[in-house]
Amino acid sequence: MVSKEKVTSKSQVSTYKPASKELATTTDLSSEAVQEITKALNPLIADAFALYVKTKNFHWHLSGSHFRDYHLLFDEQADQIFGDTDTLAERVRRVGGTTIRSISHISQLQTIEDDNNEFVPPGEMAQRLMADNQLLVVAQKAAHEVCNKNNDYATASELETIIDNTERRKWFLFEIIQGLDNTK
Ligand SMILES: [Fe+2]
Repeated sequence: MVSKEKVTSKSQVSTYKPASKELATTTDLSSEAVQEITKALNPLIADAFALYVKTKNFHWHLSGSHFRDYHLLFDEQADQIFGDTDTLAERVRRVGGTTIRSISHISQLQTIEDDNNEFVPPGEMAQRLMADNQLLVVAQKAAHEVCNKNNDYATASELETIIDNTERRKWFLFEIIQGLDNTK
């Protein structure tokens, strides 16, 4: 059994480990490029998992007069975020890196904070998700630059769709926030 201290050690996060030979997918990219791309993408995947759970949390613990609208919207957004995790994780594997392995691995890499509040008002949910999606899109754009720099066109292309997905979520949340005076 792995000790708690070992699982949560920050030194594990900053240490890049090349894939074992069985997992080192053949690629024309240099090992430095694989390392840079992997380091850029894995935190995005961890943050997407964190945001997926938070969005589902709000989907489940919603209250108020806009229940149906927000409940369905948060579910739709969560599905999209979850789908993006697989796209990015498989890109990491296609270029020969290794990716997320566990909840503890997610917790090491995530920058989006968990939300364990007992009750969050619906308008506040929209604001918190908006802020998280904003953090995420900035990181996604930074990762896109890393991919471009290393001529990883396919990951850059996937990220363009994922960035658009994030900006769509932000758009919906932004407009909800415009109507917060009507939200109880
Ligand atoms: Fe549901």
